[in-house]
Amino acid sequence: MSRLSRWLPPGPARWFLLPVYMLVGLALLYAVGRPIHVWLGNFYSGPRAPYLQMPSPDAMTLRWQTPQAEIGVVRYGRRPDRLEHTAREATPGEEHRLRLTGLEPDTRYYYAVGNPDGNRYAGAGYHFRTAPVSADVPVRFAVLGDPGDPTEQQKAVRNALTAWLERHARPNRPWLDLLLTTGDNAYRSGSNEQFQRGFFEPYAGLLRSVPVLPAYGNHDARRRVFFRLFDFPAHGESGGLPSGSKRWFAVDYGPLHVVMLDTTSQPVVPGHPMLDWLRRDLAATDRPWRVAVMHHPPYTHGSHDSDRRRDSHGRMFEVREHLLPILEAGGVDLVLAGHSHMYERSHLLDCHYGTSGVLDRPASLREANEGVYRKRTGPHGGTLYAVVGASARANQGPLDHPVMAVSEAKVGVLVVDVDGDRLTGRYLYRDGKIGDRFVLRHDPAAPAFDNGCQS
Ligand SMILES: [Fe+2]
Repeated sequence: MSRLSRWLPPGPARWFLLPVYMLVGLALLYAVGRPIHVWLGNFYSGPRAPYLQMPSPDAMTLRWQTPQAEIGVVRYGRRPDRLEHTAREATPGEEHRLRLTGLEPDTRYYYAVGNPDGNRYAGAGYHFRTAPVSADVPVRFAVLGDPGDPTEQQKAVRNALTAWLERHARPNRPWLDLLLTTGDNAYRSGSNEQFQRGFFEPYAGLLRSVPVLPAYGNHDARRRVFFRLFDFPAHGESGGLPSGSKRWFAVDYGPLHVVMLDTTSQPVVPGHPMLDWLRRDLAATDRPWRVAVMHHPPYTHGSHDSDRRRDSHGRMFEVREHLLPILEAGGVDLVLAGHSHMYERSHLLDCHYGTSGVLDRPASLREANEGVYRKRTGPHGGTLYAVVGASARANQGPLDHPVMAVSEAKVGVLVVDVDGDRLTGRYLYRDGKIGDRFVLRHDPAAPAFDNGCQS
């Protein structure tokens, strides 16, 4: 009798049990193998091209990775043929970080990255620009939504973005100043391997010349790699009020004040340090344009529903009820979120913190006038909300949230220009065409909202 036969009953029943045993075996193999596969993904040890972190007027951080331990060296200068400065790590390693300091504001620097023996990454595409100080400088940023899925659509959107930026280059300005994401940067589990395949490789051409500010999404939070891969200006390295936390912080860039918030791992409740810091940071900033970035949207009828309390553990309710009053009182102009894999962009809103069914349209919503939303600066002048969650794939949903001016399940990327008293947003499709276009204008003569929130 064979070994297998000893585990099977005699007679015809054995022929029924054999496939059951095989199925159970396969299920066990999957149950054990999948976590091992993901766990192994945490240990990506291949090369990773340079990317830029913590921009400021006088400093920039470069990160990269090498397969073997070595001393990292950055050679840099203001002319591509003359990289006369050198920054060098003190100890060898595979994960590299060098912060270049003592730089001039709003200035382009060329760089090469390598080791004491030579350069690994060098050439025409390796340059960055330090942050401007003046609020009069026009700034352009792009917003990638839930981007970390290496699909054909992701590549098409990226190609459309780079082609559009080249076609619409601004005189004497870089093609892009900042790259923001709304979170979920590495599907499905936020492992190091998935960050490499879903984020660093597809966007390498952007990341080497544009600093990236990634929001923290629920898929990033499945592993602990996110906070190791990026540098966070917790101590005011990029401007704003020091937060003391990697999970919430500010970045100043010319006229722009960006606050990055963690709605994924932090309870968004009154008294939480993130909310206290946010209130103080917004009161302290003197930058005229204020943008808030988080993963969970306060308003969406997409692949998530902000009216369902059980959706996403109530995060969207928390954001709406506890974050929005602070953001609107702090004069935030634009709130960017993802999570719902579509594009939804609101009218000018103020003081709507309930579900869609209780929207008081005359009191809380103002439509554009001849294509322009006009708002007063200061508390409760009005805020635009955008769900940008479809830079790699678009899902289906009802797309009928009443605060939205535009709702569509189309992959794309949002490009925002801030220039003087105007903010212009364009949603760029994968085919290079512009879908939504909106303009928000700071105008002291704009009518005030009359909803009681201003008092
Ligand atoms: Fe998400």
